[in-house]
Amino acid sequence: MLIDCDPGLDDAIALLAAAHLTDLVGITTVNGNVGIEHTTHNALAVAQVSGRDIPVHRGAERPLIAPTIDAAYVHGATGLGSVEIPNLERDIDSDDAVGFILDMARSVDDLQLVAVGPLTNIALALRRDPSLPSRLGGFTIMGGGAHVGNVTAVAEFNVWADPEAAAIVFREFPMTTMVGLDVTHRVLMGATDRDRMRAAGGPAATLAADLLDFAVVRADEIAGRDGAPIHDATAVMSVVAPELFTGIERPVEVELSGTITRGMTVVDDRPGGRAGEGPAPANACVLLDADEQAVIDGIVDAIIALDAS
Ligand code: RIB
Ligand code: CA
Repeated sequence: MLIDCDPGLDDAIALLAAAHLTDLVGITTVNGNVGIEHTTHNALAVAQVSGRDIPVHRGAERPLIAPTIDAAYVHGATGLGSVEIPNLERDIDSDDAVGFILDMARSVDDLQLVAVGPLTNIALALRRDPSLPSRLGGFTIMGGGAHVGNVTAVAEFNVWADPEAAAIVFREFPMTTMVGLDVTHRVLMGATDRDRMRAAGGPAATLAADLLDFAVVRADEIAGRDGAPIHDATAVMSVVAPELFTGIERPVEVELSGTITRGMTVVDDRPGGRAGEGPAPANACVLLDADEQAVIDGIVDAIIALDAS
């Protein structure tokens, strides 16, 4: 697995879980939740805490066209809440995330590319090598939503932050597994999960518990949620344990010019598609349901096991 991310509280939890559950060949970073310097620093810090030697390659510092935005109101100014990870002992392996993604796609059999931030790096990789999709074992995003948004009424943050990149990705990948808000808004970690990891006591479990301290409070303050949505680790689990999820294959397009709908993932659920034309070919597997508790338990178990391995 290669994870493209914008750490980010839930990105960090995803990286820790993936470090145990998968052969995580590398991390690429993108501007998103916070700026590229922070997302890259945070990726390096989380990789260091994981105890695994995972390369980190820095990527795009701004969207293709959209203005640069952030979600610091959710993730804190640094992107990791109030967590300080001292003594960073590592540096990036390159500032060419796109080149690393393409190199891994060419050299790693059955590579699972999982993008859990804005899709800028992925779109740029497609422009540099349009054969990218054919070289992968699978492509999964945390992004979008069939029936719901978060950053607007209809748009999810990762797609909204760089909708032109998302439009390119949905058009040029023959099949994208879309792990959207329909599922991730129901995969919530709360005090029980946090306390279980804190009691385990290892460095990864302690970091995850500290991140959750912040995330749970913000989830309640922002949306009155009883628990923090674990968006990105849910995308990792959809690759590792697909049996925990159900979805539908549908055509998906990204709205680019709507005044109030820009960044919306428009899922065409009409049985016959356009009148008389039949359904357009499906380009996404839109996940709609999950065994939420099994997903949460899988993430917590993985992070605790990471420390023990
Ligand atoms: O909308 C949720 C997504 O936006 C997650 O990936 C979160 O980390 C933010 O990037
Ligand atoms: Ca993210």
